[in-house]
Amino acid sequence: MNRTHNNGELRIEHVGQVVELKGWVAKKRNLGALVFIDLRDRYGITQIIVNENMEDIARKIKNEYIIYVKGTVIERSSKNPHMPTGDIEIEAQELKIINSASLPPIIVADETDALEETRMQYRYLDLRRPVMQNNIITRHKVTKSIRDFLDGLDFVDIETPYLNRSTPEGARDFLVPSRVHPGDFYALPQSPQLFKQLLMVAGFEKYYQIARCFRDEDLRADRQPEFTQVDVEMSFMTTDEILEIGEQMVAKVIKDVKGIDVPLPLPRMTWHDAMETYGIDKPDIRFDMKLVNLNETVKDVDFMVFQSALQNNGYVKGINVKDQASQFSRKKIDKLTDLVKTYKGKGLAWMKVNNGKAEGPIVKFFSDEQLARLLKAMDAHDNDLLLFVSDIKYMVVCDALAALRNHLGKELKLYDPDEMGLLWVVDFPMFEYDDETQRYYATHHPFTRPKEEDINKILTDPEHCLADAYDIVFNGFELGGGSQRIYEQDLQQKAFDALGLTHEQVQNKFGWFVDALKYGTPPHGGFALGLDRFVMLLTQSESIRDVIAFPKNASATCPMSKAPNSVEKEQLDELGIGVLQNEQ
Ligand code: AMO
Ligand code: AMP
Repeated sequence: MNRTHNNGELRIEHVGQVVELKGWVAKKRNLGALVFIDLRDRYGITQIIVNENMEDIARKIKNEYIIYVKGTVIERSSKNPHMPTGDIEIEAQELKIINSASLPPIIVADETDALEETRMQYRYLDLRRPVMQNNIITRHKVTKSIRDFLDGLDFVDIETPYLNRSTPEGARDFLVPSRVHPGDFYALPQSPQLFKQLLMVAGFEKYYQIARCFRDEDLRADRQPEFTQVDVEMSFMTTDEILEIGEQMVAKVIKDVKGIDVPLPLPRMTWHDAMETYGIDKPDIRFDMKLVNLNETVKDVDFMVFQSALQNNGYVKGINVKDQASQFSRKKIDKLTDLVKTYKGKGLAWMKVNNGKAEGPIVKFFSDEQLARLLKAMDAHDNDLLLFVSDIKYMVVCDALAALRNHLGKELKLYDPDEMGLLWVVDFPMFEYDDETQRYYATHHPFTRPKEEDINKILTDPEHCLADAYDIVFNGFELGGGSQRIYEQDLQQKAFDALGLTHEQVQNKFGWFVDALKYGTPPHGGFALGLDRFVMLLTQSESIRDVIAFPKNASATCPMSKAPNSVEKEQLDELGIGVLQNEQ
């Protein structure tokens, strides 16, 4: 029982050849005396015809059985242009069952009606679906393309430990108890950040790793507790050189995997401009609908909602949904208001433009002159829908309008799904102030370098200190981020001071790392790309779960293996661990 071809490769020129195939039965249909079988493997599907003299065996064959077929390639009378092998079929002369299969609990085909939980429970069957195979194979192509690119530039692939002390990326750590040192814990890395910096101290100059990272945070469509970064670090490079390497890598992957040319250099936008014009630090630039600041325009309008924000140093901003007013009934606008409320917005004010005039419940608060000024500021024309949000807090206005904009962009199909909306967002603030704990936090991480011209502001004016940090954004997702790093011990100390960390806290958390900075640390910087997000966007998948072979569900469990699970008391005793409560 040989195998001469796979199930995706036979074409019209093979007609007349005797071939031997193996694969899974994707479908079986009886048509009078004939039985048609769709035979599937990783490469595709080939149609087999079985005539009545093999009826006995054909009757036994069911979906997902693995069979062997020997037969002649013949031209199909009714061709299927949607299948690469659609011009031919195999007339079976020999048929054998290699292995049987139980009735599969999900439909093993691109179109499946199974719930995601069931798909994850039977992931090995889900992964048999051609669409999932394509996702996983695309992922392999992406990593291969990245490795080739970085290898060509002399980067060295170096592994860093999974078991170590905590690395600060802002999420909660996954802890691993030590048996040898009862009561002590390793932390799984949130990223290889400190180790890749130490590899620069060690003189490797160009490092990369396709590294698994672990973060115990609330999961979303683009977040998993364990995920993969393409982690890169280099010495003696300017920020421009680092960004050039990053964007060339991304462009090469897109060319290799999708055959699309991405024009370089990528556009760059400052964080400040991104927030002002898109309300978000990861703008989807495939469509317009920019946010307009209306503080000046409406400052004398007697509308309580706007006035109560403005009189408290707040903000009024709007977006123009061009040429869509007639599509939006009251009910639909109420739905948009609900969306705004999930982003802490208090409401949504709106107007429609009809025959050169503004209409809607808030128009009455405006004089003719004020209205004209507003329509001009919003660049409003007939059939435009204008949406406004005001709040005391800048971030509430930004979050709400950015969410509306992303929602409308998708719903109104304002972009071509094949378009690659790539850009760099640069000049992030070094610190973010948290009202609750009343202290500054590092926007990226505490090893991020301030911009050269802002180094002196680090302690005196942290609010206006910009970081030499950048994110790469792809279709409204944060694909990756990085920065130049601090390489001088005294500057690193100032950054810790700005974060309000005491000497003991620094020694305890990062002493082992900070020590290394005094032994000749080269200027260095780098970035990390989220591999899962990259593949999700390239395959136009809805979630990163669809591009990870064995992901966790939204409650961080694996429906297949049922991890995490309780363990034997002996195992806990060995680790010196007692469980206080078991909520099960
Ligand atoms: P950062 O924390 O921004 O940077 O992470 C880099 C990229 O990793 C991806 N990512 C995730 N993907 C899936 N699930 C998650 N839970 C998750 N968290 C992050 C994102 C993100 O852009 N050490 C720095 C990089 C550097 O400075 O070089 C870092 O980890 O795509
Ligand atoms: P009200 O005077 O509260 O009935 O609000 C009048 C209109 O303003 C309604 O359409 C509200 O949804 C809207 N609105 C309320 N609060 C805000 C806000 N913070 N920003 C924008 N519009 C708002």
